[in-house]
Amino acid sequence: MKAIEVRDLRKSFDSGRIRALNGVNLEVDGGEFISIMGPSGSGKSTLLNMIGALDVPDSGTICVAGRDLSRERDLSRLRAEEIGFVFQLHNLIPNLTALENVEIPMFAVKHENMEERAMELLEYVDLADKAHRKPTELSGGERQRVAIARALANDPSIILADEPTGSLDSRTSQRVLRKLRELQEDEGVTLVVVTHEPDVAAMASRTIRILDGVIVDDGY
Ligand SMILES: Nc1ncnc2c1ncn2[C@@H]1O[C@H](COP(=O)(O)OP(=O)(O)OP(=O)(O)O)[C@@H](O)[C@H]1O
Ligand SMILES: [Mg+2]
Repeated sequence: MKAIEVRDLRKSFDSGRIRALNGVNLEVDGGEFISIMGPSGSGKSTLLNMIGALDVPDSGTICVAGRDLSRERDLSRLRAEEIGFVFQLHNLIPNLTALENVEIPMFAVKHENMEERAMELLEYVDLADKAHRKPTELSGGERQRVAIARALANDPSIILADEPTGSLDSRTSQRVLRKLRELQEDEGVTLVVVTHEPDVAAMASRTIRILDGVIVDDGY
């Protein structure tokens, strides 16, 4: 079973005037680490949002962890169970602490000992000592690591990261990336990272290139 299977995916905006995705086909194996590169506006985030069931395509099919998204009744549940998101912007809720931010996804799945688990995840990203700080009291790299901890809250099989290190200096960005790669290597998590940075893409085992809503190089 493929972790992700996308067939002839199409998506337009603005009553069809903007064709963001023009027939995308993509297969990702379980445990693979792929990067997606392409110019601004080429459709990277649109593709990621659709794989993550945050938006619906005009046509085409998407299977995630063997589940056809168009046949799922409860997409938010599927998201909570299978997928962890790491976004570049607006990633944490400002008036909650790091710890509370990590707990949020757990409400959908109703874990026991949510606080304890959130603390373990913050330990994993080396931020246990800052668990009670608000996002504004953390550095950019620390916020991204909180976002990674939050993405892991429900043990997802897939992590989707949209420019997770876009705003970070290269040292911090390496640190965030290493954490993501460690997950892929140690836990077998499937990792899809959208990036503009060649050194980030170089960490992946395969780089997909997208241009004007089509994949022009799928890295094989
Ligand atoms: N909600 C929306 N409404 C209208 N147009 C949109 C919407 N989301 C994306 N688009 C358009 O779809 C195209 C693809 O956008 P997308 O965000 O996927 O690009 P991207 O490759 O992620 O770019 P970037 O590298 O700048 O993040 C762009 O032309 C964009 O303006
Ligand atoms: Mg984008």
